[in-house]
Amino acid sequence: MGPKYRAPEGMNDVLPESSHLWQYIEARWREHCHRYGYREIRTPVLEYAELFERSVGETTDIVSKEMYILQRGEERYALKPEGTAPVVRAYIEHSLHSAGSAQKLYYITPFFRGERPQKGRYRQAHQMGAEIIGTAQPSADAELLAMVMHFFQSLGILPEALELRLNTIGCPTCRPAYREAVLQFGRARSAQLCKSCQTRLERNPLRILDCKECVAITTDAPPIDPYLCDECRTHFDTLQQLLKMLDVPYKRDYRLVRGLDYYTRTTFEVIAEQGLGAQNALCGGGRYDGLVEALGGAPTPAVGVGIGVERTLLVLQALEVPMPEPPRVGVYVVAFGEAARPVALQVAQQLRYAGIATDLDLEGRSPKAQMRLANRIGARFAVLLGETELAQNAATVKDLQTHEQTLVSQAELAVWIRNRLQTS
Ligand code: HAM
Repeated sequence: MGPKYRAPEGMNDVLPESSHLWQYIEARWREHCHRYGYREIRTPVLEYAELFERSVGETTDIVSKEMYILQRGEERYALKPEGTAPVVRAYIEHSLHSAGSAQKLYYITPFFRGERPQKGRYRQAHQMGAEIIGTAQPSADAELLAMVMHFFQSLGILPEALELRLNTIGCPTCRPAYREAVLQFGRARSAQLCKSCQTRLERNPLRILDCKECVAITTDAPPIDPYLCDECRTHFDTLQQLLKMLDVPYKRDYRLVRGLDYYTRTTFEVIAEQGLGAQNALCGGGRYDGLVEALGGAPTPAVGVGIGVERTLLVLQALEVPMPEPPRVGVYVVAFGEAARPVALQVAQQLRYAGIATDLDLEGRSPKAQMRLANRIGARFAVLLGETELAQNAATVKDLQTHEQTLVSQAELAVWIRNRLQTS
């Protein structure tokens, strides 16, 4: 019989043997964002559901099928299914535009989507996001894409393992004509489309382009290029020139229309060739020039990205990229005999106050069992306290690598150990 309670389906515990990897990736993301001039923003884990209905879009799978809704009294909340709409809501609510320049904001957040769980697809997942709000310049798109590829590279993922796919989906001026063309194309083939494309065709025709099941039917779908307005075309051309200049390789992907309604112009994803199976997008993003206004702010162009933490980890593991070892305590204090136990606690505290990661037995183990544990957890030094040591206010420090033993006075213990830990 299994445990009585389990985590909700599609939601995972991060256990101590892997939490250091999460800390590592998150720390690298923070560092990386600071390097590019971003500042962190944190928003609540839930928002009024309407925020996502208005931004991600009522006809999208995310909003129509996958949101976790919480009703409390009159209020209807949704656990955030993505990170961009909350950031834009906060940008407007706190008048971040009044800083007078574009805001570069980054975040690390859980998000929730009631999808069918599979490898790389969970119901609670985590995203590292970055948003540049307040500029329409293609240099913002280019810098964001360069930053994302640089991030993966800084984690040790070789550029050959990834593919940046890039597209433009136009703007409210030019997209309607393209939408109509895809709709006509789809209607002519509607009997061959998969069930969900048949239903989404009329509401959201562009989505048939990125349906994996319908690839064969939509290969001849019209590309957007002849429909782009001058502004969208210039934006996309300039972005491509900048990417070439910055040596950021990409592949044009006419099918990349994305599953959220707020996008305008640039859309992109980074695909991992290995490690993710069917859910192979490591990150996705694009421009959303109409979103701030749609949510009640002044017209404000913006561009951003969301990177999946779980998928990044899966790729790092599949590619066997070296990652940090779990942190270990440097010192384990071993008490020989009952009289030594309180002193052991006191000595351990002294070492911790001095900044040395230290642990000791709190379960009344025998000295032999304490020594075994000191070795098992990979401590560098065991500090032994027995009658002889207590009589001299000293401790025997045993180097667990060389087995060398040294008697050190308790007063000098912290400095003695710190010097050795720093030089080893
Ligand atoms: P998204 O493409 O829906 O975009 O999600 C971004 C990334 O989150 C995906 O590429 C993937 O790595 C990860 N992801 C998505 N769903 C799941 C899931 N169920 N399980 C595990 N990982 C998942 C957005 O959410 C936009 N807010 C990105 C953005 C920011 N656009 C502009 N700014």
